[in-house]
This record gives sequence, structure tokens and C-alpha cells, in this order.
Amino acid sequence: MSGIPHDHYEPKTNGEKWLNSRLPVVGLLYDTIMIPTPKNLNWMWIWGIVLTFCLALQIITGIVLVMHYTPHVDMAFASVEHIMRNVNGGAMLRYLHMNGASLFFVAVYAHILRGLYYGSYKAPREITWIIGMLIYLLMMGTAFMGYVLPWGQMSFWGATVITGLFGAIPFIGEPIQTWLLGGPAVDNATLNRFFSLHYLLPFVIAGLVIVHIWAFHTTGNNNPTGVEVRRGSKAEAEKDTLPFWPYFVMKDLFALAVILAVFWAIVGFMPNYLGHPDNYIEADPLVTPAHIVPEWYFLPFYAILRAFDDTVWVVQFAGFITGGIIDAKFFGVLAMFGAIAVMALAPWLDTSSVRSGRYRPMFKWWFALFVVNFFVLMWVGAMPAEGIYPIIALIGSAYWFAYFLIILPLLGVIEKPDPQPETIEEDFNAHYAPNTGGTKTAPSASPAE
Ligand code: HEM
Repeated sequence: MSGIPHDHYEPKTNGEKWLNSRLPVVGLLYDTIMIPTPKNLNWMWIWGIVLTFCLALQIITGIVLVMHYTPHVDMAFASVEHIMRNVNGGAMLRYLHMNGASLFFVAVYAHILRGLYYGSYKAPREITWIIGMLIYLLMMGTAFMGYVLPWGQMSFWGATVITGLFGAIPFIGEPIQTWLLGGPAVDNATLNRFFSLHYLLPFVIAGLVIVHIWAFHTTGNNNPTGVEVRRGSKAEAEKDTLPFWPYFVMKDLFALAVILAVFWAIVGFMPNYLGHPDNYIEADPLVTPAHIVPEWYFLPFYAILRAFDDTVWVVQFAGFITGGIIDAKFFGVLAMFGAIAVMALAPWLDTSSVRSGRYRPMFKWWFALFVVNFFVLMWVGAMPAEGIYPIIALIGSAYWFAYFLIILPLLGVIEKPDPQPETIEEDFNAHYAPNTGGTKTAPSASPAE
């Protein structure tokens, strides 16, 4: 699968040859697990495995939860209480699934930020990046619909607010909203279709993850230097890489074990910490909660959605030139989806010839500000839209767009990059064998040794 020269699977016994000439599945698995991987990968390359684990955890716990859950407005809330109180291990299952969603988003944000810092989105990995963005959108849709299923107050009102956004689209908004809800308001039809899609989408995500992995196995992994593996000959490639098994499997499993220790402590000792108490009150269409707040992982985008009210001049200007078709609500929706769209376009907006942020002295600072800004938006998204908060949200949102649309294109032109190592081997030796003049030989890439 990979463009990097390495040993491929050779069937030895007659049985292996028989199978291989009919279905080369063992070869496919062998090549996948033995893929030559840059040997200088750091700890930021563990998140892909954590994400894969999360997807499996959510699917497995979800399937068991469904065995006891009832997707009907009269019974959904009670069926979740039944899971928590009466089903053997039910509380643990539900808490694993609830907090598993949070771990999934922690991992995806770390994974995306890693990609943004080390320039993993740049050519030739654009397809990996775009598939990643599709996965991320589907993850958000799946999490949003899952949150509606327990039919608590936040489930109901969150669904009402978010589906209401579609109503803001000019001309076709209202029919779309009715179509999404299955009626004029959030009700049993909504709960049923959200349940159906919440069950379906993780499998679509799983399919996309296979394509995602296929894409970066074709180009080879990026690495902290951003310098590509040498492909001239197998001997050269072996100096830059190690086979994924056992080296990176062991490293990833170690990282996963540490992360799971923390995760398990949260599931065991503070399972409701990230939840909202109002969701333990059954949905009531006649009682609106004081503050409707989405889950933490949506907050940065929720902040961007709310940042553009009708006091902002760009909103007024957009309204003026479109004859009032774009109002503040629709502008907010465009900004929220636009924030993800500009991130998806990063491969084409970043004009720098240097891939890794490590060798980009100016980029480093703008990127650090981008990370801080992400957390500021998250914080401000949880605050009421009054006083100083809308102003902070507006500045944060403006920076988000400026980062992708102005700073990334401009930096490539004005920045003078630091010198990069010639090869991955050079970087590896400088880090892991500094006292040997860089001559210490690393473990061989040959899986046979
Ligand atoms: C279910 C969600 C996802 C899974 C299971 C997943 C899995 C993986 C795995 C296993 C890797 C290789 C190891 C690593 O870099 O950690 C990887 C690499 C990558 N992922 Fe994801 N990923 C997911 C979502 C995303 C998202 C949302 C993005 C961002 C748009 C993304 C962008 C990338 C990029 C650019 C690489 C290449 C990095 C490199 O070549 O070193 N992924 N992914």
C-alpha cells in the first residue's frame, strides 16, 4: 500500500499460497501492520490509536445500551433510568458511553492540533485531512443526536435551538427544519430519526476511518520534522523508519493505558462532571431552562455562532448588500460552518514551503495564539451572551478566520524558516544518540531482526 520501499508479505506454505492467490487478506494485514513508520514520531502521534479505541468503545457500549433503551418520548427518559438502576452494569455502561464521547473529542482536538502544528495537512496528505474533516463533522452530528436520546431538558432544548438554526436559512429554511424534525417541533418523530441516525453514523465513520488510514498509508506518515522518508532505495528508507509492529504498537498501547487510567478514574469517581444537571430532569416543552448550554466540545463553535449579532458591522453590511436576506441568525450559522470550512481548506491556504511548525519561527507564535484562542472560545461559549462576553467571542471568532484566511497565506511569503535536518535519521540521532556524534545505529527497520 505504501510508496515507501519495504518487505512485502511472501506466502510460504502451500496453504498460504492457496489463500493468497484467491484472497490476499493476510498480505493486506501484514503490509498494514508492518508499514514503515518514521522512527522519530513523538507522543502527539498517539491520538489516532486513541481515536480508533474510542470509536470501538462507543460502538460496543452503544450496542449494549440499545438493548435496554426505548426511543419513545413517553419512555426514553425512564428507560435510561432503568439502565442506570436495574440493568446489570448499566450505570457503568452508560457512564462509559457518556464520557467516551468526551474522550473521543479530547483525542480529536489533540489530533487536529497536532496536524495543524506539524503541517500534516499539507501536500501530499490533503485527502487524509479532508477525510478527517468529514469524520469530524459526522462525529459532531452523531454526538449531537446522541445527546437528545436520554430525553432530558438539555436534550430537548438543545435539539430545539440547534435545529432552529436551519430555520434561519433564507427561503428554504423552514421546510428543511420541518423535514429534519419530522414535524413542526421536536417530538417523537425527531427522537426516532435521531436514534436511527445515531446508530447508523458510527458505522459510516468506521468506513471513513478505513479510507483515512488507507490515504496516509499511501503517502506515508508525516513526522515532527516534516521531512519525508527517503524513498530512493529500501536501504535508505530503512534508515528513516521502523516497522509499525512492534515498535509503535507498543508505544501507542502504553500511551493508551495511561490515558485509560485517567478515563477510568473519571468514569468511576466523577462520571457526571462533564454533564449538565438539567439533563436529569425529564424533557418538558413548557419549561425552558435558564441557560441552554451545549456539551463542552461544541462550545468553541457555539461561541462563533453567537458572536455575530446585529450590532456587528459585518452583519449589518451583509444584511445591507443582500437586501436583508442575510440576517444576524443566518450570519451566525454561516460563520459556524465557515469556521470548519476554512480549517478544511488549510492545505491550500498555507503557502509555506516548510511543513513542520518546528522550523517556522513566526508561525509558532501565531499557532500558540490559535490554541489559546480555541480555549478562550470554549470558555466564552459557556457564558451568557451579555456584558463583555459577546465582545470576547467576536474577537476570538475574528482571530479564527484571520488565522486561516490571512495569517497562514501571508506567513508563507514573509517568514524566513529555520534550517531543517536533511533526513529523519539525522533528527532521530540528534535526539536519541546525542553523545555519539549522531552515529549510533538505531534498531533496524527489518521486521525479521
Ligand atoms: C474517528 C476519528 C479519527 C481516527 C480514528 C483517526 C485515525 C488516525 C490514525 C490512526 C492516524 C495515524 C496515527 C496518528 O497520526 O495518530 C491518523 C493520521 C492523521 N489524521 Fe486522523 N483520525 C481521525 C480523525 C481525524 C480528523 C478529524 C482529522 C483532521 C481533519 C485527522 C487528520 C489526520 C491527519 C492529517 C493524519 C496524518 C498524520 C501523519 O501523516 O502523520 N484525523 N488518523
